[in-house]
Amino acid sequence: MSNNNGHHTLPAGEAHDAVLVTGAAGFGGSHLVRSLLKLGYRVTGLDIVPPSHADLLRREMDHPNFRYRWQSLQDIQPGDMDGHSVVAHLAAQADTPLAFESPRYTVMQNVEGTVALLEAVRRGGAVKKFIYSGSGNEYGRPLSLPMDETHPLTPHNPYGFSKAAAELAVWSWHRAYGVPAVALGTGVVIGPHMRREVFIFKWLWNALRGRPIVVEGGQQTRDVSYIDDVVAAWLLAIQAPPEVVVGEKFFVSSGAEHTVAELARWCRDAAGSQAAIERVGYRPGEEGQREAFSTEKARRVLGHVPRVSPKEAVRLTADWVKTLAETRPEEAEPVAIPPQDQAVQVVGPGEVVNVQSV
Ligand SMILES: NC(=O)c1ccc[n+]([C@@H]2O[C@H](COP(=O)([O-])OP(=O)(O)OC[C@H]3O[C@@H](n4cnc5c(N)ncnc54)[C@H](O)[C@@H]3O)[C@@H](O)[C@H]2O)c1
Repeated sequence: MSNNNGHHTLPAGEAHDAVLVTGAAGFGGSHLVRSLLKLGYRVTGLDIVPPSHADLLRREMDHPNFRYRWQSLQDIQPGDMDGHSVVAHLAAQADTPLAFESPRYTVMQNVEGTVALLEAVRRGGAVKKFIYSGSGNEYGRPLSLPMDETHPLTPHNPYGFSKAAAELAVWSWHRAYGVPAVALGTGVVIGPHMRREVFIFKWLWNALRGRPIVVEGGQQTRDVSYIDDVVAAWLLAIQAPPEVVVGEKFFVSSGAEHTVAELARWCRDAAGSQAAIERVGYRPGEEGQREAFSTEKARRVLGHVPRVSPKEAVRLTADWVKTLAETRPEEAEPVAIPPQDQAVQVVGPGEVVNVQSV
């Protein structure tokens, strides 16, 4: 069934098999859980965040169709798949800066955790779709732009490696055991409840307080999506007939390429701020990085059309950060992590300058 936006819909109140959402307490997972419950799905949300700290699911905890499972991916068992026709796998150590400091931990969570889940899925037998959340970090310097789904995995940092290795595991288990895999790859996803460590959040937060925006590098590019657009694509993939999507990968993005220097200016403007923009050196592996994904396959097969432009996504996210800054300032303070070994040059309001790393 389709609605007049071309999106698949489900009749209200229809009984569905449950969807297992891993990483349910996180940014993307909690948005997906909420949307699935609204559509009438039964949902199991798995995460290592203790229930009492799963703030993003506070209202869902008592929902009759929701069950929270406080458990690590690494300990999931085949029997845990019973009654679930779809696994939406979003759990990950998703912070790139942490991956530089803790690459082994990141690999353990992202690769070993994914393999544990794949083993449970293939031994459990009930799952008709296993959907993997891929990252733009799996591609460092693209061979062509915009990248389409045939582009090879070319990670340039430890986080990208862990996500690419996990994706390779997904396709290996698909080929070896017939795990019904689907991959959805996205660039940067922003919106309400995004992680505080992501650069766009830090820039908006600092700009709102008149503090400098610190840009690591500047000329590398990003393909930015709004969370509602990404969740819409996940819903379409969940609702699509397995024969249409299993074995397929889709990029879900705006399709537009913007330098991070440009994104920094948008953040400052959206915050209505005159904050200075400072440049420090690139993160390892980031110089020369570009990111833009083709939206063609997602549009053709899933019927997914992104509705929010990257600039509008920044503006909508700024609105949320403003609310947060006004109502719960103590919870929103991002950790300041300017690289210790790089020169920082403070310039006047509105200026953007290049500063060489030392
Ligand atoms: N946010 C983005 O910009 C973006 C872009 C592309 C891809 N992704 C991918 O989307 C997914 C969700 O990202 P997010 O931004 O919501 O991150 P997030 O950190 O907010 O959520 C991830 C959740 O996974 C949980 N988790 C981590 N390890 C686990 C384990 N071993 N067992 C159970 N739970 C575990 C965490 O506790 C957290 O709640 C990730 O796979 C990430 O790689 C995110």
